[in-house]
Amino acid sequence: MQEKIDPYTAEINAFSPANADELETFRIKFLGTKGLIKDLFEEFKTVGPEEKRIFGKVLNQFKQLAEAKYTELKETIDSGPKTQDQDKDLTLPGDGLNLGSRHPLTLVRNEIIDIYKRLGFVVAEGPEIEDDWHNFSALNFPEEHPARDMQDTFFIKKNSGQDDIALRTHTSSVQVRMMEMGKPPFRAIMPGRVYRNEAISARAHCFFHQVEGLYVDENVSFADLKQTLYHFVQELYGEGTKVRFRPSYFPFTEPSAEMDISCTICKGAGCNMCKYTGWVEILGCGMVDPNVLENCGIDSKKFTGFAFGMGIERIANLKYVIRDLRLFSENDVRFLKQFQTEII
Ligand code: PHE
Repeated sequence: MQEKIDPYTAEINAFSPANADELETFRIKFLGTKGLIKDLFEEFKTVGPEEKRIFGKVLNQFKQLAEAKYTELKETIDSGPKTQDQDKDLTLPGDGLNLGSRHPLTLVRNEIIDIYKRLGFVVAEGPEIEDDWHNFSALNFPEEHPARDMQDTFFIKKNSGQDDIALRTHTSSVQVRMMEMGKPPFRAIMPGRVYRNEAISARAHCFFHQVEGLYVDENVSFADLKQTLYHFVQELYGEGTKVRFRPSYFPFTEPSAEMDISCTICKGAGCNMCKYTGWVEILGCGMVDPNVLENCGIDSKKFTGFAFGMGIERIANLKYVIRDLRLFSENDVRFLKQFQTEII
């Protein structure tokens, strides 16, 4: 029996597997249920008592040798050369996804839309390239009105010979389109980009964004206008924000007004933002001029309406205290990142 075991002892000592498969073959050969050691133990049962004493010890040592070798090799193979993935701690938190944020003007526009939606206003949109009729004439602008002047309006030269095509200067043009196409009642807001020929500075830009609104029905009064805008301001800037209306002039409304709110920064005490008056102007408004209703085919004896219009940049300035209008269109991520929103 000793002679049988010796070469195997040498084999075991010299064994150095290249991979886990070779080690498994080794296990099956020596330690498996039909392996060599099992056989030797079977054979051991047949020897006489004197030999049992001697070979029992030898056989046990041999078995321990094979088992120890296997355990040792198994450990080195398991923790052996690692792939890249095994190097990583998979329980570590992942890198955060760089989520974008909504543009402050989008945030404010959405907020304005939400408030008016709750009051039953729908959203209407129209083209940014307009003709004179929809941008000016239907809205009762006199022929010689300065707003039609090249100073304010970007006209678009067309080969067709039509020379009254321009970038819209306000979204009131959408009101005209809406009234022309449908029948009263109308209750809608018109968000959108508008263009004016102004030198770009901290306080003016050649384009900006508006939300205008229109409500036309029987018996719509100035009281409805005031209450609607008052409610809007309470929702947008919080309960207790004061409003005041100052008489004004727009060709398309009569009477017309501008609405101020108590300064959102100093709450009326006086600050840089409100030029120490305690009030800031946020929108223009008025009762739709009967001429405008008639221009759009609406019976001005039967229907009345109110309209209003505000610049989204102005509303955003008062909300976020942004002192330079140019920031809104420069796409500087350091600026834009500050308006992180919940993304759902
Ligand atoms: N269209 C006006 C503007 O762009 C705003 C306005 C709309 C005023 C409706 C009164 C009524 O300044």
